[in-house]
Amino acid sequence: MIYSEIIKKGSNFLKQNKNKNPYLDTELILSKVINKEREQILLNINDKLKNKDITKFKKYLFRRYEKEPMAYILGYKHFWKYKFLINKSVLIPRPDTELIVEETLKYLPIEKSKKILDVGTGSGCIIVSLLKERPKCSATAIDISKNAINVAKTNAKLHQLGNKINFINIDIDKYKSSNYDLIVSNPPYINSIDLKRLDDDIKFHEPKIAVSGGSDGFKVLEKVIIKSKKLLKINGKLILEVGHRQNSRCSKILKDNGYYINQISKDLSGKDRCIVSTKLQ
Ligand SMILES: C[S@@+](CC[C@H](N)C(=O)[O-])C[C@H]1O[C@@H](n2cnc3c(N)ncnc32)[C@H](O)[C@@H]1O
Repeated sequence: MIYSEIIKKGSNFLKQNKNKNPYLDTELILSKVINKEREQILLNINDKLKNKDITKFKKYLFRRYEKEPMAYILGYKHFWKYKFLINKSVLIPRPDTELIVEETLKYLPIEKSKKILDVGTGSGCIIVSLLKERPKCSATAIDISKNAINVAKTNAKLHQLGNKINFINIDIDKYKSSNYDLIVSNPPYINSIDLKRLDDDIKFHEPKIAVSGGSDGFKVLEKVIIKSKKLLKINGKLILEVGHRQNSRCSKILKDNGYYINQISKDLSGKDRCIVSTKLQ
C-alpha cells in the first residue's frame, strides 16, 4: 500500500473513535514507522510501505484508537526549547508548565550560581530547561517514582547535563538536605472528583501518582509548601504550579506558613497557574 492510501485508511479508522487530529496523528505514526520526518512522507506520498512496516503501523494506530496519547506512542514531547524522551512512567510535559520555567528564570540572574531543588521532577523537563538557561546554577531533582527518575536522568544526559543535576528517588516527606535558594515544583494537584472527569487519554494512560492530589487536590501541594520551609534559605523562593481553582487556598497555606506571595501568573488560557512566594523567616 502507498503512503497516501495508508494515511486515508488510518485517519478514517481514528475518526471512528472521535479522534480530534486523525490526519496529523496518522502521519506522525507513519513517520515513526519509517523513521523519517513527516515532511518526507508528504514529499514521497506515492512511496510504498513495506509489509513488515504495515504490521508496526497497525499496532501503533490501534494504540492511538484506544486513546493512548501521541506522546507515549512517539516516545517524546517538545517542551520549552527541547525534546524530552518520555514513557508511561512520567507525566507528558504540558505547554502550561512552560510558564513555571519562564517565571523561575526571572528569579535566577544569569551570572549567579543558585542552588535549586525540583520536587516531582517527572521527565525532568522543568529542571533540564532551567539549567540549560542558567548553566552556573546547581540542581537536585527528586521524585517518588524510581522509573520517573530514570527517565529524567536520560533526558539530562541527552541535553549534556548528566553530571550537573543530582537525581534522587525519594518522597518529599523524607528529603532532608537544605539551604536551597529556590525550590520549584509542579506537584500532582487534581482532586478525586476532577480525576474521574479527565479525558480518557489522561485518565487511563498517565501515571496516577503524577496527577492525583488526593481527595481535595492538596495532599502533595501542602506537603511541598510545609517541607520547603525547612529546605529553603531565608528569602529563598518557592515557585509552584497549581490547579486553576487552587490559587486562593494555596495562597492561604503559603501565608499561614510564613511565606510572602510575590506573584500569581496566568497560563495560556488565562487561568491562575503559577505562584511565586518567598520564605520570610
Ligand atoms: C504533575 S507531575 C510533574 C512532572 C514534571 N515536573 C512536569 O512538570 O511535567 C508530578 C510528579 O511528582 C511526583 N510525586 C508525586 N508525589 C510525590 C512525593 N510525595 N514526593 C516526590 N515526588 C512526588 C510524581 O511521581 C510525578 O512525577
